[in-house]
Amino acid sequence: MTQDELKALVGQAALQYVTPGDIVGVGTGSTVNKFIDALAGMKEQIAGAVSSSEASTARLKALGIPVFEANAVGELSVYIDGADEIDGQGHMVKGGGAALTREKIVAAQSRRFVCIADDSKLVKVLGRFPLPVEVIPMATARLVRQFAQMGATAQVRMKDGAPLVTDNGQHILDVTGLQITDPLAFESQVNQWPGVVTVGVFAHQKASVCLLGTPDGVKTLTF
Ligand code: A5P
Repeated sequence: MTQDELKALVGQAALQYVTPGDIVGVGTGSTVNKFIDALAGMKEQIAGAVSSSEASTARLKALGIPVFEANAVGELSVYIDGADEIDGQGHMVKGGGAALTREKIVAAQSRRFVCIADDSKLVKVLGRFPLPVEVIPMATARLVRQFAQMGATAQVRMKDGAPLVTDNGQHILDVTGLQITDPLAFESQVNQWPGVVTVGVFAHQKASVCLLGTPDGVKTLTF
């Protein structure tokens, strides 16, 4: 099975976590796109979605799924999103699509985080994938030095020859050379550095369930 087929498999499997009448929290990325496409098949049964990015909002609306502002609704029963890495405890690295801040906001608003991923995303220790960190542009150079003091290398993510600008008008640092052995402590520590908007470690908002696409089918991990 190709990676694309594995993504479609878990995108479809995630529908079992959607209850009729729900407003569904929807993440961002190529795996979530498969979920959104599958969700369109039951759009008459749900009230709508809260989206974590402009890209997902556009896709949801194009398929006729109503999108609500996060502030307009209360707690959501489920948030469905992909990950760049997930460990055996449900801690994740996210933000490869630069949507980490809104993803964390919608995840925090939801009772349950269902992660959908192909099996290439499962790791023992987080840190192989360059860690995305959304930052206020004026703090970039100092944050690069602060990561260097940890022995890591941070680089500003570029797009078309200029720093990528997120949906929130900020920049992204991608940090390599990390071994995140204590994700909860790491997330708390980096999140309080001045100028950090959101660190892409999701430990406080970890997954409750992971639907992992494998060549043998969908494997369900619960945390
Ligand atoms: C978006 O900012 C990310 O957090 C995505 O959830 C993550 O990058 C996974 O994306 P794919 O499903 O495209 O691999």
